[in-house]
Amino acid sequence: MSAEKLYLKPNVVVEPLVDHWYAWSHLIPPATAAMNIVGRHLKIMESYVKAPQVHSAAVKNPAMLGGPFIDFKVPRVADVQSLIDRTKRERAPLLALAGAIQKLDDLLRQEARGHSLEPLYSRVPEPLRGYVELIYDLNNQPSFRFIEPLLYRSPYYVPAAQSLMLSLITRDDRPFVLSTPRLLAEGDVHLRLPFRHPGIDELFKMKAVPQTFASIKEALQLADEQDAAFAQFLTADPRPPYQPYRGSSVRWRYFGHACILVETAEVRILLDPVLSYTYENDISRYTYQDLPDWIDFVLITHNHQDHILFETMLQLRHKIGSVVVPRSGSGDLQDPSLKLLLRQIGFTNVYEMDEMETLELAGAQITGLPFLGEHADLDIRSKLAYLCRLGQRSLLFAADSCNVEPRLYERLHEAVGDIDVAFIGMECDGAPLSWVYGPLLTRPLDRKMDQSRRLAGSNYERAVDIVNRFHCRDAYVYAMGQEPWLNYIMSVKYTEQSNPIIASNKLIEDCQSRGINAERLFGEKEILL
Ligand SMILES: [Fe+2]
Ligand SMILES: [Fe+2]
Repeated sequence: MSAEKLYLKPNVVVEPLVDHWYAWSHLIPPATAAMNIVGRHLKIMESYVKAPQVHSAAVKNPAMLGGPFIDFKVPRVADVQSLIDRTKRERAPLLALAGAIQKLDDLLRQEARGHSLEPLYSRVPEPLRGYVELIYDLNNQPSFRFIEPLLYRSPYYVPAAQSLMLSLITRDDRPFVLSTPRLLAEGDVHLRLPFRHPGIDELFKMKAVPQTFASIKEALQLADEQDAAFAQFLTADPRPPYQPYRGSSVRWRYFGHACILVETAEVRILLDPVLSYTYENDISRYTYQDLPDWIDFVLITHNHQDHILFETMLQLRHKIGSVVVPRSGSGDLQDPSLKLLLRQIGFTNVYEMDEMETLELAGAQITGLPFLGEHADLDIRSKLAYLCRLGQRSLLFAADSCNVEPRLYERLHEAVGDIDVAFIGMECDGAPLSWVYGPLLTRPLDRKMDQSRRLAGSNYERAVDIVNRFHCRDAYVYAMGQEPWLNYIMSVKYTEQSNPIIASNKLIEDCQSRGINAERLFGEKEILL
């Protein structure tokens, strides 16, 4: 075997999978994974096997974008049936866990009437015994919480279900991954490695540091028959070297959606990493190649699949100092801990931040600010906006924070003062509750309730209130999901008549008329502050 040192090509897509479904953040914690297997994956796959033509017609209809339909170029009914069979066989404990969650919920609703919950422990369904605490709120509404760290130590957490699918990409066209299982296709290489496997870091280091075929083959435990397919992912061409920012101020670069790199000469901070691979295209963009060799902090704003993306996180793991995540609500089904989750998949340095807590760094401060709304009024705590102070500059990354209560921002202004630059998400229509959280519901939700409770960011009035309140000099609308390379995790397609476009246009015109720099970010942007 050749001693030639090779790089990983910049257009190798690496999809992390759990049981052949794209690994997003509810597929790692055992309880949410169990509910999604039953309430999303098996439902979609069984519907596909019954009527594949309904699915292939639906995915051609733009109105059905992001719906529960499988998007394959050629029908794969037999493969999907075998995935159904295998899932039912190999994930039987998780199916039992999902059933037990449903039964425990029924039990509490029927039997917990305000009297002591102690007699009910012996009636907790067996798969959940020892993993839950039964509780009331102050109005005697019964509920339960998971002892989440124990679930990760139980048979319900199955790293063996995790794998990576490698393929080449040449254009912005990937099927929506929440509705379509990822089956092996010609030219793909499937690596059956748990996400925490150190070989994964060795692979991604090869984007910058070359390695021999033999050494990466060993690190990834590749089989001989995978050699030829894997070899197509390697190249002798080095990537262009990264030019770090060495100025005395602050440079920020927009990578698409809510992903922004903030650099000073001392510190590099990356927010909500979602990145394009590098290939010929019409829309200018920063890609993986435009990231520094070392990122001091990755800040995650909230637990939605377009803000915490393992596909990107795993590729960066070897060069991230610390990941900062918002603190979760401790054991609620709908609010799994991001800290536990990231630790399970191999991130060793995860810092859980609270509202109004500040991390002091050399020449910089990162403060977690409350993030209201955008979670369909569910009790979900793992969400923060971040205020970054770098030298004399302050930047607010509000992500999808919805200003449902301007009095909050009044109090925040009293606490933190004016802010130079605000990045605000204005996806003000938002998906209904069921789109993300449907599989977690133990009772069907009335359609009108579902439609009224949305994952919506700020509209014009709410966004302009933030800009005015903090006397921002610059206001950028971001996190709009418009970049075509993110279609696979987003399901938005706006026209000029879409509310988020009308609302953000209005904000931009209003700001510009008052001398505030304002823009809706798209593609790429670089600003020196
Ligand atoms: Fe969100
Ligand atoms: Fe978002």
